[in-house]
Amino acid sequence: MGFAGLGSAVLCLASLVAFVSAGSDAPRGVALGFVFDPKAKCDPPCEHAGVCIRNNTCNCNKGYEGETCQFAICYPKCKNGGMCLRPGKCRCPLGFGGRYCHKVMCDGGCWNGGECTAVNGVAKCICPSGWTGSKCQEAVCPQDCKNGICVAPGICSCSEGWLGGACHTAVCSQPCLNGGKCISPNKCRCRPLFTGPRCEDRKNPH
Ligand SMILES: *[C@@H]1O[C@H](CO)[C@@H](O)[C@H](O)[C@H]1NC(C)=O
Repeated sequence: MGFAGLGSAVLCLASLVAFVSAGSDAPRGVALGFVFDPKAKCDPPCEHAGVCIRNNTCNCNKGYEGETCQFAICYPKCKNGGMCLRPGKCRCPLGFGGRYCHKVMCDGGCWNGGECTAVNGVAKCICPSGWTGSKCQEAVCPQDCKNGICVAPGICSCSEGWLGGACHTAVCSQPCLNGGKCISPNKCRCRPLFTGPRCEDRKNPH
């Protein structure tokens, strides 16, 4: 091996060591691998099986960094405020999950095609049109169901005795006669001069 080849091999090793001990005050460069004082004292001691190579200088194990190798390294970094517990293991705040806390988690999920998204750091379901509610569980009826409930976007399920898109039409099982109008289930409003449940009688017959 030529001199240049040896040099780049040492540089390569040195940069590897420098990367592993990043964050400590270990010197960068070729010298690092050769400076090891067996009598070195590190106080506070090196953590996570880091080696005390010089007075108060720890050489950290793979996966740790910091003055005393106290910090675990998560790569990629923990996202969304997650904490690196052990190398490559993040603890995620509520509302986030996945190996790097990169996934937004909506408690109970999002229904009806809703998408779980972080809004100002809080997991929220973004609902498709026609649905609303924290989980997109609630259908929207723009016509407003007058006598019924909204069961799907724009679809009302009517109470008994009502019909129509907004459940606004009353049903009279016996039709109202003489121009009377069905105003609520089985209730007719009669024209003047008529009376009776179905407006079948003439008032004051003279
Ligand atoms: C390391 O520290 C000890 C005392 O804590 C001292 O006696 C020794 O000389 C130091 N070594 C170096 C290389 O500075």
